[in-house]
Amino acid sequence: LRSKYLTRIGEAADEAALEEVRLSAIGKKGEVALAMRELGRMSPEERQVEGPRLNELKSEITSALAARKAALHDAALDARLAGEWLDVTLPGRRSGRGPADGSVHPVSQVWEEVTAIFADMGFAVAEGPQVESDWYNFDALNIPDHHPARGEMDTFYMARAEGDDRPPHVLRTHTSPVQIRSMQEMGAPLRIICPGRVYRADYDQTHTPMFHQVEGLAIDRDISMANLKWVLEEFFTAYFGRSVKTRFRASHFPFTEPSAEVDIQCSFEGGTVKVGEGDGWLEVLGSGMVHPHVLRSGGVDPDEWQGFAFGMGIDRIAMLKYGIPDLRAFFDSDLRWLRHYGFGG
Ligand code: PHE
Repeated sequence: LRSKYLTRIGEAADEAALEEVRLSAIGKKGEVALAMRELGRMSPEERQVEGPRLNELKSEITSALAARKAALHDAALDARLAGEWLDVTLPGRRSGRGPADGSVHPVSQVWEEVTAIFADMGFAVAEGPQVESDWYNFDALNIPDHHPARGEMDTFYMARAEGDDRPPHVLRTHTSPVQIRSMQEMGAPLRIICPGRVYRADYDQTHTPMFHQVEGLAIDRDISMANLKWVLEEFFTAYFGRSVKTRFRASHFPFTEPSAEVDIQCSFEGGTVKVGEGDGWLEVLGSGMVHPHVLRSGGVDPDEWQGFAFGMGIDRIAMLKYGIPDLRAFFDSDLRWLRHYGFGG
């Protein structure tokens, strides 16, 4: 009995076979159990010899089963590890439809180009938070409570829990709060740009709820509108690789005086945008001379310093450069669209 079962245990190829051996050996109706039942019919002398032998056999079989089970388990694990082995150094598989290699999104490319062009003109890069206090986003920029500009901005307000006594916060509606933060941190004179994400509840062919702006701010003792115009025209020439027609329109912003908006000449025909031709104009930025209240909010003395500021739509100038007529497509993550416009492989 002993050698028969120990052999069968050793030969069991998997846990199911092992269970079968267990049942036929030490299960309720197994051979060892039956033999134990026989003990009752034996003489006391025989029983004294056979009883302990059977018990010993049963425990020997039990531990052989356990040992075999552990061995099978280890082997199964080894097999799984070998089967699922992953070579992380292998190159990735192509998705078939998508570009062969990843590529930089057009908006990110333009972001980097814009930064490089302004860096050449001596502008440093500044940053600020996207969740901004309403003081930085509005009050400090000469937009007090109840000013109509607050309503016109389609602002996303951050929800507030009851009893929260922190100042109200918004998703910044423009990069202009970074003007204040930069003046507070660095004082005057100052020459910075701030590229970043901004948010407004607005959606159509030329508006998306998240978009990108680059803020510019130059403060010195005798900065004028003429410097602003020169910087912007230099920028557009570098960016488009040739001079393009721009239109400065008188406008109004609470944080600049005087203020101007700038449009770029383009045509919108045949499902594409072409810069520098036609009789269409795309508005790409707001600008002006920094309002004295704003300088004061940033801790800069308006009797000594003055400056210009502008806020340009990065996505807008990307539309113009790549002939993309619908801003929304930038944020749809459609690989076919990216390829069509020459991005990605
Ligand atoms: N912050 C303005 C806007 O978003 C743009 C702007 C920036 C205007 C700086 C003037 C000066 O729309």
